[in-house]
Amino acid sequence: PTCEDLDPVRYITNRSSGKMGYAVAEAAARRGARVILITGPTALETPAGVERVDVRSAEDMRRAVQERFPQSSIAIFAAAVADYRPAEPHTQKLKRGKDELTLHLEPNPDILAEAARNKGDRLVVGFAAETDHVAENARKKLAAKNTDLIVANDVTAEGAGFDMDTNIVTLFARDGRDLPLPKLSKREVAERILDEVVRLRSAALPARPAVV
Ligand code: CTP
Repeated sequence: PTCEDLDPVRYITNRSSGKMGYAVAEAAARRGARVILITGPTALETPAGVERVDVRSAEDMRRAVQERFPQSSIAIFAAAVADYRPAEPHTQKLKRGKDELTLHLEPNPDILAEAARNKGDRLVVGFAAETDHVAENARKKLAAKNTDLIVANDVTAEGAGFDMDTNIVTLFARDGRDLPLPKLSKREVAERILDEVVRLRSAALPARPAVV
């Protein structure tokens, strides 16, 4: 998740635990990739062999991504970025009053769409958290955010979504393939995502001459 501060003691966030993103980072490192994990606040341990960059807000995350995206060959955006942030964060604690309080929120940047706009030959994977019309919305995000793969989940389904150890996702690939997966552990989902990344990358690379 990202955290968007309202004042020194209060913030807006969401129910993401970070488990899905950490599982992908761990699986990629186990397969021998050099992994940089840009993460919002979580209670999770850094997976072995992973370089971790801690951020708090969407704006911090955007800067960290902008710095490191150019050196990546594969970028996987699993963060649950807060779509809005307080327009005027207070430097001092807001005091309790008798009147109604209205919070003014302003939109955060779309970190994935911004980075993927000039992705070159990098392979970019996004996630889509949906509550309805999953396939339709996921395919829209695939195109709108210039990604190669979207990992879509219905966050209302039992055994899927936030703060669970399992997930039920469908992988929507740019080449038209839809791959619905059964309920799996987030570790197993991470492996399937990386299998699909490898498939898409092999298709994009020129065929190697056979060695006899
Ligand atoms: N994402 C991002 N920056 C944002 C919002 C989302 O980089 N400000 C990324 C997420 O990490 C994810 C993908 O975009 O990979 C889709 O996120 P999701 O929350 O499903 O979609 P939104 O673009 O926020 O659209 P909506 O909330 O309207 O469904």
